Amino acid sequence: MTDIDVYARRRASLLAQMQCGIAIVPTAPERVRNRDSEYLYRFDSYFYYLCGFREAEAVLVLVAGAEPQSILFCREKNPERETWDGFRYGPEAAREAFGVDAAHPIGQLDEKLPTLLANQPALYYAPGTDPDWDARVMRWLNQVRAQSRTGISAPHSIYDVRAALDEMRLIKDEHELALMRRAAAISAKAHERAMRATRPGRMEYEIEAELLYEFRRHGAQFPAYWPIVAGGANACVLHYSDNNARLEDGALLLIDAGCELDGYASDITRTYPINGKFGGAQKDVYELVLAAQAAAIGATRPGANWDAPHEAAVRVLAQGMIDFGLCQGSLDRVLEAGDYKRFYMHRTGHWLGLDVHDAGEYKQDGKWRPLLAGMTLTVEPGCYIRPADDVPKAYWNIGVRIEDDVLVTKDGCEVITVETPKSIAAIEALVGNG
Ligand code: GLY
Ligand code: MN
Ligand code: MN
Repeated sequence: MTDIDVYARRRASLLAQMQCGIAIVPTAPERVRNRDSEYLYRFDSYFYYLCGFREAEAVLVLVAGAEPQSILFCREKNPERETWDGFRYGPEAAREAFGVDAAHPIGQLDEKLPTLLANQPALYYAPGTDPDWDARVMRWLNQVRAQSRTGISAPHSIYDVRAALDEMRLIKDEHELALMRRAAAISAKAHERAMRATRPGRMEYEIEAELLYEFRRHGAQFPAYWPIVAGGANACVLHYSDNNARLEDGALLLIDAGCELDGYASDITRTYPINGKFGGAQKDVYELVLAAQAAAIGATRPGANWDAPHEAAVRVLAQGMIDFGLCQGSLDRVLEAGDYKRFYMHRTGHWLGLDVHDAGEYKQDGKWRPLLAGMTLTVEPGCYIRPADDVPKAYWNIGVRIEDDVLVTKDGCEVITVETPKSIAAIEALVGNG
């Protein structure tokens, strides 16, 4: 199946679910960073999911019914702009390359949309994403309404197109899984490179540079999120992003980093000793988090509910916290009272795909939804111990997270980031060895 067929099949699936009506799916706007300089462009995930088109200033319109139609609006060819900014498909070539039924210049959007909306019973759209688009869509609707005396009607119902798309995006197809596996493999190499480059005295940003270098040299377009390279106490800051401290002998380094390849994210965390040898308390906490992750991965299978891996991880972590003197009382009491949250304050995973925190509901009808084959998620327990009088000193400033990307399979799950070194022996053999 070619790429064109993959996107055509997704559009056909959405069109079949709509039955009738029209969907409008714009891509993301370009954004200015500061004067004359823009953020690196990233398309909208929903738009890209449906057509694979990566240029800015584009809109996909889908018309459902007996003769479903996919229409792409995109920038026209423009030799002068292409001299400055690079290649643009233009509508004609885009129609052919992306397999849509029709393509028009983006400049014709305001003229054509009221006509396309006329007499459609329903509009599918993602309200609230961008106030400019909301205003524009309302303008088109009002233009159609203004023609009511001529017998033309505007859509009576407006649906959030994301409801259907989120459900589709939750189950990855083979095309998506192939990209996610490649993204995972690149990120695994990047973590290995970072381990080899780590030694006392280096700076966090030097290790960040090793990660970014490895992502890019394998063709990944972006980091899927900004890497967290957190030495020592910085590992206990969950969204640490300064990445500018010196790596100290005897401390741990937590790295949360993953690349984005052709739109698909990977998301991996590893934690390891800066000098290449786990100390006693560091090893205790690392082995605890590793055991929690193994329990969570063991609970990741079709039919189990979304929360099962989290519950499994929390049970292991809470018992460890009692054993280390971080929490007091019985396991049931610590779980019931939630004392473990002082040292494990986030959940054990999230959906992963086009977005690092991918689309899709976690509950249905108020209950955690069951896992299904084809879903992809992270499994990322951690333990973060800040200094305090009631905390044994040996554990102060130890922050550990271990995160892998997991595919739910027919009879269990597969860790797609499995190549990222994780055992104590594998890590100790690599750190500083480069
Ligand atoms: N790196 C983002 C996360 O782990 O959720
Ligand atoms: Mn994550
Ligand atoms: Mn992460």
